Amino acid sequence: MEANSHNSYVFDPESSAEMARLINQDRMMTQAMGGPLAGLEQPETLRNILDLGSGPGGWALDVAFELPQANVEGIDISRIMVDYANARARTQDILNASFGVMNITEPLDFPAASFDLVNARFLTVALKREAWPPLLKESTRVLRPGGYLRLTEVVDAGISNSAALNQLMQLLLQALWLAGYAFSPDGHSVGAVHMLPSFLRELGYQQVRLQPHAVEYSANMEAWADQYHNIEVAGSQIKPLLVKLGLITIEDFDQLYAQAISDMHQETFCAIQHFTTVFGQKP
Ligand SMILES: C[S@@+](CC[C@H](N)C(=O)[O-])C[C@H]1O[C@@H](n2cnc3c(N)ncnc32)[C@H](O)[C@@H]1O
Repeated sequence: MEANSHNSYVFDPESSAEMARLINQDRMMTQAMGGPLAGLEQPETLRNILDLGSGPGGWALDVAFELPQANVEGIDISRIMVDYANARARTQDILNASFGVMNITEPLDFPAASFDLVNARFLTVALKREAWPPLLKESTRVLRPGGYLRLTEVVDAGISNSAALNQLMQLLLQALWLAGYAFSPDGHSVGAVHMLPSFLRELGYQQVRLQPHAVEYSANMEAWADQYHNIEVAGSQIKPLLVKLGLITIEDFDQLYAQAISDMHQETFCAIQHFTTVFGQKP
Protein backbone atom coordinates (compact mmCIF):
# COMPACT_ATOMS: atom_id res chain seq x y z
CA MET A 1 0.00 0.00 0.00
CA GLU A 2 1.39 3.41 -0.89
CA ALA A 3 -0.41 6.58 0.07
CA ASN A 4 -0.95 9.65 -2.02
CA SER A 5 1.60 12.29 -1.02
CA HIS A 6 -1.24 14.72 -0.14
CA ASN A 7 -1.89 15.01 3.56
CA SER A 8 -3.52 17.58 5.81
CA TYR A 9 -1.90 16.56 9.11
CA VAL A 10 -1.22 19.67 11.20
CA PHE A 11 2.11 18.18 12.31
CA ASP A 12 4.90 16.62 10.24
CA PRO A 13 3.96 12.92 10.01
CA GLU A 14 7.49 11.90 8.97
CA SER A 15 9.19 13.58 11.93
CA SER A 16 10.76 11.40 14.62
CA ALA A 17 9.95 14.07 17.23
CA GLU A 18 6.28 13.76 16.26
CA MET A 19 6.51 9.98 16.48
CA ALA A 20 8.01 10.22 19.99
CA ARG A 21 5.20 12.62 20.97
CA LEU A 22 2.57 10.11 19.78
CA ILE A 23 4.23 7.21 21.63
CA ASN A 24 4.02 9.14 24.93
CA GLN A 25 0.53 10.43 24.21
CA ASP A 26 -0.73 6.90 23.44
CA ARG A 27 0.56 5.57 26.76
CA MET A 28 -1.02 8.41 28.73
CA MET A 29 -4.37 8.33 26.93
CA THR A 30 -4.85 4.55 26.84
CA GLN A 31 -4.22 4.44 30.58
CA ALA A 32 -6.68 7.28 31.20
CA MET A 33 -9.27 5.45 29.06
CA GLY A 34 -8.99 2.30 31.19
CA GLY A 35 -7.27 0.19 28.49
CA PRO A 36 -7.45 0.03 24.69
CA LEU A 37 -10.88 -1.63 24.50
CA ALA A 38 -12.60 0.05 27.46
CA GLY A 39 -16.33 0.41 26.91
CA LEU A 40 -16.66 -2.30 24.24
CA GLU A 41 -18.91 -5.19 25.13
CA GLN A 42 -17.58 -8.71 24.52
CA PRO A 43 -14.30 -7.69 22.84
CA GLU A 44 -13.29 -11.39 22.79
CA THR A 45 -15.81 -11.90 19.93
CA LEU A 46 -13.91 -9.48 17.65
CA ARG A 47 -11.93 -11.09 14.83
CA ASN A 48 -10.90 -8.34 12.38
CA ILE A 49 -10.00 -4.88 13.64
CA LEU A 50 -8.89 -1.76 11.76
CA ASP A 51 -7.20 1.29 13.32
CA LEU A 52 -7.33 4.46 11.21
CA GLY A 53 -4.33 6.81 11.54
CA SER A 54 -2.58 4.27 13.74
CA GLY A 55 0.60 6.33 14.26
CA PRO A 56 3.40 4.38 16.00
CA GLY A 57 0.91 1.55 16.57
CA GLY A 58 0.49 1.59 20.36
CA TRP A 59 -3.28 1.12 20.40
CA ALA A 60 -3.31 -1.62 17.74
CA LEU A 61 -0.46 -3.52 19.44
CA ASP A 62 -2.16 -3.35 22.84
CA VAL A 63 -5.35 -4.72 21.27
CA ALA A 64 -3.50 -7.49 19.40
CA PHE A 65 -1.84 -8.49 22.67
CA GLU A 66 -5.15 -8.51 24.57
CA LEU A 67 -7.01 -10.37 21.80
CA PRO A 68 -4.70 -13.06 20.42
CA GLN A 69 -7.58 -14.51 18.36
CA ALA A 70 -8.07 -11.22 16.48
CA ASN A 71 -6.25 -9.83 13.47
CA VAL A 72 -5.46 -6.12 13.88
CA GLU A 73 -4.52 -3.82 10.98
CA GLY A 74 -3.31 -0.26 11.35
CA ILE A 75 -3.10 2.25 8.52
CA ASP A 76 -1.32 5.60 8.49
CA ILE A 77 -0.09 8.08 5.92
CA SER A 78 3.37 8.17 7.49
CA ARG A 79 5.98 5.71 6.28
CA ILE A 80 8.18 6.10 9.38
CA MET A 81 5.23 5.47 11.75
CA VAL A 82 4.18 2.36 9.78
CA ASP A 83 7.75 0.98 9.69
CA TYR A 84 8.19 1.64 13.40
CA ALA A 85 4.83 0.00 14.26
CA ASN A 86 5.70 -3.12 12.20
CA ALA A 87 9.12 -3.28 13.89
CA ARG A 88 7.47 -3.00 17.31
CA ALA A 89 5.13 -5.88 16.41
CA ARG A 90 8.15 -8.02 15.43
CA THR A 91 10.24 -7.21 18.51
CA GLN A 92 7.26 -7.78 20.82
CA ASP A 93 6.50 -11.10 19.05
CA ILE A 94 3.01 -9.91 18.18
CA LEU A 95 2.09 -11.83 15.03
CA ASN A 96 -1.55 -10.72 14.77
CA ALA A 97 -0.92 -7.01 14.10
CA SER A 98 0.34 -5.40 10.91
CA PHE A 99 0.57 -1.87 9.58
CA GLY A 100 0.44 -0.34 6.12
CA VAL A 101 0.65 3.08 4.49
CA MET A 102 -2.75 4.37 3.38
CA ASN A 103 -4.37 7.79 3.06
CA ILE A 104 -7.65 7.82 4.98
CA THR A 105 -8.93 10.80 3.00
CA GLU A 106 -9.16 8.52 -0.03
CA PRO A 107 -11.26 5.38 -0.55
CA LEU A 108 -9.97 2.67 1.81
CA ASP A 109 -8.25 -0.20 0.08
CA PHE A 110 -10.33 -2.92 1.79
CA PRO A 111 -13.36 -4.89 0.58
CA ALA A 112 -16.79 -4.11 2.05
CA ALA A 113 -17.70 -5.76 5.37
CA SER A 114 -14.07 -6.67 6.22
CA PHE A 115 -13.97 -5.60 9.89
CA ASP A 116 -15.81 -6.18 13.18
CA LEU A 117 -14.39 -2.99 14.67
CA VAL A 118 -13.07 0.20 13.10
CA ASN A 119 -11.25 2.40 15.60
CA ALA A 120 -9.88 5.91 15.23
CA ARG A 121 -8.30 8.16 17.83
CA PHE A 122 -7.20 11.78 17.66
CA LEU A 123 -7.88 12.39 13.97
CA THR A 124 -9.10 15.98 14.38
CA VAL A 125 -5.59 17.23 13.63
CA ALA A 126 -5.45 15.01 10.52
CA LEU A 127 -8.77 15.71 8.82
CA LYS A 128 -10.12 18.93 7.33
CA ARG A 129 -13.81 19.25 8.20
CA GLU A 130 -14.97 18.16 4.72
CA ALA A 131 -12.95 14.93 5.04
CA TRP A 132 -14.97 13.60 8.00
CA PRO A 133 -18.22 12.58 6.23
CA PRO A 134 -16.47 10.58 3.44
CA LEU A 135 -14.21 8.85 5.97
CA LEU A 136 -17.18 7.89 8.16
CA LYS A 137 -18.94 6.55 5.05
CA GLU A 138 -15.88 4.51 4.06
CA SER A 139 -15.50 3.22 7.62
CA THR A 140 -19.13 2.10 7.48
CA ARG A 141 -18.57 0.37 4.14
CA VAL A 142 -15.65 -1.68 5.45
CA LEU A 143 -17.51 -2.63 8.67
CA ARG A 144 -19.59 -5.78 8.62
CA PRO A 145 -23.26 -5.50 9.67
CA GLY A 146 -23.28 -5.54 13.49
CA GLY A 147 -19.71 -4.21 13.59
CA TYR A 148 -18.64 -1.27 15.78
CA LEU A 149 -17.25 2.14 14.95
CA ARG A 150 -15.30 3.66 17.85
CA LEU A 151 -14.03 7.25 17.64
CA THR A 152 -12.06 9.06 20.35
CA GLU A 153 -11.30 12.78 20.21
CA VAL A 154 -10.10 15.52 22.54
CA VAL A 155 -13.00 17.78 23.57
CA ASP A 156 -11.54 21.19 24.35
CA ALA A 157 -8.43 23.01 25.56
CA GLY A 158 -8.75 21.44 29.01
CA ILE A 159 -8.28 23.51 32.15
CA SER A 160 -5.26 24.42 34.19
CA ASN A 161 -4.18 26.98 36.77
CA SER A 162 -1.64 28.40 34.30
CA ALA A 163 -3.05 31.38 32.40
CA ALA A 164 -0.22 31.05 29.87
CA LEU A 165 -0.93 27.38 29.18
CA ASN A 166 -4.67 28.07 28.88
CA GLN A 167 -3.91 30.84 26.37
CA LEU A 168 -1.53 28.60 24.41
CA MET A 169 -4.15 25.84 24.21
CA GLN A 170 -6.83 28.35 23.13
CA LEU A 171 -4.53 29.57 20.35
CA LEU A 172 -4.14 26.00 19.14
CA LEU A 173 -7.93 25.61 18.98
CA GLN A 174 -8.28 28.92 17.14
CA ALA A 175 -5.65 27.81 14.62
CA LEU A 176 -7.41 24.50 13.98
CA TRP A 177 -10.72 26.31 13.48
CA LEU A 178 -9.25 28.98 11.16
CA ALA A 179 -7.33 26.36 9.16
CA GLY A 180 -10.52 24.37 8.51
CA TYR A 181 -10.36 21.49 10.99
CA ALA A 182 -13.50 20.05 12.62
CA PHE A 183 -16.78 21.80 13.30
CA SER A 184 -16.42 24.34 16.08
CA PRO A 185 -18.50 27.44 15.27
CA ASP A 186 -16.10 29.75 17.12
CA GLY A 187 -12.74 28.05 17.76
CA HIS A 188 -13.45 27.51 21.47
CA SER A 189 -13.45 23.71 21.30
CA VAL A 190 -11.57 21.08 19.32
CA GLY A 191 -14.85 20.76 17.50
CA ALA A 192 -15.35 17.13 16.47
CA VAL A 193 -16.84 15.18 19.31
CA HIS A 194 -20.16 17.03 19.57
CA MET A 195 -20.90 16.25 15.89
CA LEU A 196 -19.88 12.59 15.77
CA PRO A 197 -22.95 11.03 17.46
CA SER A 198 -25.23 12.84 15.04
CA PHE A 199 -23.08 11.83 12.02
CA LEU A 200 -23.26 8.20 13.15
CA ARG A 201 -27.04 8.30 13.57
CA GLU A 202 -27.36 9.84 10.07
CA LEU A 203 -25.43 6.85 8.73
CA GLY A 204 -27.92 4.50 10.43
CA TYR A 205 -25.77 3.46 13.39
CA GLN A 206 -27.62 2.02 16.38
CA GLN A 207 -26.91 2.28 20.09
CA VAL A 208 -24.82 5.41 19.60
CA ARG A 209 -23.30 6.25 22.97
CA LEU A 210 -20.56 8.30 24.58
CA GLN A 211 -17.85 7.55 27.09
CA PRO A 212 -16.16 10.64 28.56
CA HIS A 213 -12.57 10.50 29.81
CA ALA A 214 -10.23 12.89 31.59
CA VAL A 215 -6.52 12.84 32.24
CA GLU A 216 -5.03 14.77 35.12
CA TYR A 217 -1.52 16.04 34.40
CA SER A 218 -0.94 18.13 37.49
CA ALA A 219 2.56 18.32 39.01
CA ASN A 220 3.73 14.96 40.37
CA MET A 221 1.02 13.00 38.55
CA GLU A 222 2.13 10.13 36.31
CA ALA A 223 0.73 11.81 33.18
CA TRP A 224 2.64 15.05 33.80
CA ALA A 225 5.83 14.01 31.98
CA ASP A 226 3.96 12.64 28.94
CA GLN A 227 1.78 15.73 28.65
CA TYR A 228 4.77 18.03 29.22
CA HIS A 229 6.56 16.33 26.34
CA ASN A 230 3.36 16.50 24.25
CA ILE A 231 3.05 20.26 24.78
CA GLU A 232 6.77 20.83 24.21
CA VAL A 233 6.79 19.03 20.83
CA ALA A 234 3.31 20.12 19.67
CA GLY A 235 4.02 23.72 20.73
CA SER A 236 7.16 24.03 18.64
CA GLN A 237 5.48 22.34 15.65
CA ILE A 238 2.38 24.57 15.79
CA LYS A 239 4.26 27.86 16.16
CA PRO A 240 4.68 28.54 12.40
CA LEU A 241 0.94 27.98 11.79
CA LEU A 242 -0.07 30.35 14.61
CA VAL A 243 2.26 33.00 13.24
CA LYS A 244 1.12 32.45 9.63
CA LEU A 245 -2.52 32.81 10.67
CA GLY A 246 -1.68 36.12 12.38
CA LEU A 247 -2.80 34.84 15.80
CA ILE A 248 0.46 35.80 17.52
CA THR A 249 3.93 37.16 16.72
CA ILE A 250 7.04 35.00 17.04
CA GLU A 251 8.23 37.06 20.02
CA ASP A 252 4.90 36.86 21.87
CA PHE A 253 4.66 33.13 21.16
CA ASP A 254 8.14 32.52 22.56
CA GLN A 255 7.28 34.47 25.71
CA LEU A 256 3.92 32.72 26.19
CA TYR A 257 5.42 29.31 25.56
CA ALA A 258 8.30 29.91 28.00
CA GLN A 259 5.80 31.04 30.66
CA ALA A 260 3.57 27.97 30.08
CA ILE A 261 6.55 25.64 30.36
CA SER A 262 7.76 27.41 33.51
CA ASP A 263 4.24 27.21 35.07
CA MET A 264 4.10 23.49 34.34
CA HIS A 265 7.26 23.05 36.44
CA GLN A 266 5.68 24.61 39.54
CA GLU A 267 4.84 22.26 42.42
CA THR A 268 1.37 23.87 42.50
CA PHE A 269 0.60 23.22 38.80
CA CYS A 270 -2.85 21.63 38.30
CA ALA A 271 -4.44 20.60 34.97
CA ILE A 272 -6.84 18.20 33.31
CA GLN A 273 -7.67 17.40 29.71
CA HIS A 274 -11.02 16.01 28.49
CA PHE A 275 -11.60 13.57 25.70
CA THR A 276 -14.53 11.40 24.69
CA THR A 277 -15.18 8.14 22.87
CA VAL A 278 -18.22 7.79 20.61
CA PHE A 279 -19.43 4.27 19.81
CA GLY A 280 -21.99 3.08 17.30
CA GLN A 281 -23.10 -0.30 15.92
CA LYS A 282 -23.72 -0.77 12.21
CA PRO A 283 -27.17 -2.31 11.61
C1 LIG B 1 -2.65 12.49 16.42
S1 LIG B 1 -2.03 11.09 15.61
C2 LIG B 1 -2.93 9.78 16.38
C3 LIG B 1 -2.23 8.44 16.35
C4 LIG B 1 -3.00 7.27 16.98
N1 LIG B 1 -4.34 7.17 16.44
C5 LIG B 1 -3.07 7.36 18.48
O1 LIG B 1 -4.15 7.48 19.02
O2 LIG B 1 -2.02 7.28 19.12
C6 LIG B 1 -2.72 11.15 14.00
C7 LIG B 1 -2.12 10.15 13.04
O3 LIG B 1 -2.83 10.27 11.79
C8 LIG B 1 -1.88 10.13 10.73
N2 LIG B 1 -2.46 10.78 9.54
C9 LIG B 1 -2.56 12.10 9.28
N3 LIG B 1 -3.17 12.31 8.09
C10 LIG B 1 -3.47 11.06 7.61
C11 LIG B 1 -4.10 10.61 6.42
N4 LIG B 1 -4.57 11.45 5.52
N5 LIG B 1 -4.22 9.27 6.22
C12 LIG B 1 -3.74 8.39 7.16
N6 LIG B 1 -3.14 8.77 8.31
C13 LIG B 1 -3.01 10.10 8.53
C14 LIG B 1 -0.62 10.80 11.26
O4 LIG B 1 0.53 10.35 10.56
C15 LIG B 1 -0.65 10.37 12.73
O5 LIG B 1 0.04 9.17 12.90
